[in-house]
Amino acid sequence: MSTLADLLENNRQWAERQTRRDPGFFERLCDIQRPDYLWIGCSDSRVPANQIVDLEPGELFVHRNVANVVSLNDVNCVATVQYAVEVLSVRHIIVCGHYGCGGVQAALSGTFHGAIDLWLEHLRRVRSANGEELERLSDPIARWRRLCELNVAAQVESVAQIPAVRKRWLEGAPLAVHGWIYDLSDGLLRDLGVGAGAPETS
Ligand code: CO
Repeated sequence: MSTLADLLENNRQWAERQTRRDPGFFERLCDIQRPDYLWIGCSDSRVPANQIVDLEPGELFVHRNVANVVSLNDVNCVATVQYAVEVLSVRHIIVCGHYGCGGVQAALSGTFHGAIDLWLEHLRRVRSANGEELERLSDPIARWRRLCELNVAAQVESVAQIPAVRKRWLEGAPLAVHGWIYDLSDGLLRDLGVGAGAPETS
């Protein structure tokens, strides 16, 4: 296991490598950030946003929480989305869930976990809204995987309700919302085809 000293040493070496590869790298990043993408993903350590889409610092604006929930009552998430669309003018918002999500599994179980239950309430609502379909799946793993997917679809719908996003669409701005899922077992992303917004955005 790494120690904190290892992390600081890793950082020093990383900064050195970046500068060697591209001497103006950090200078440019200080000037401006102009990412095209907002990533809304799970906090899970196995789903590191920049790494899995192979993007550099400055290329991805990121919001992560347990089970990639987008709630209109969550000031943190809504403010992040507002900043991304109004100030950074991102063209794509990617809601990315993942199979094997512990938050989704907790919402499927009947047991209670204390404070996190307030957060899981968002997921339990997705679960009840799709109760019939989920009940038909007798295999618990299949049910878990399906709820991971349904959760992404529900959170894409929530993004589409955020006033700053609706305003951008009314203005005719090129902005699309996408629903993706990541598979921990092979490291691959899949587009769930549940997106919203300007389809011609590329
Ligand atoms: Co997760």
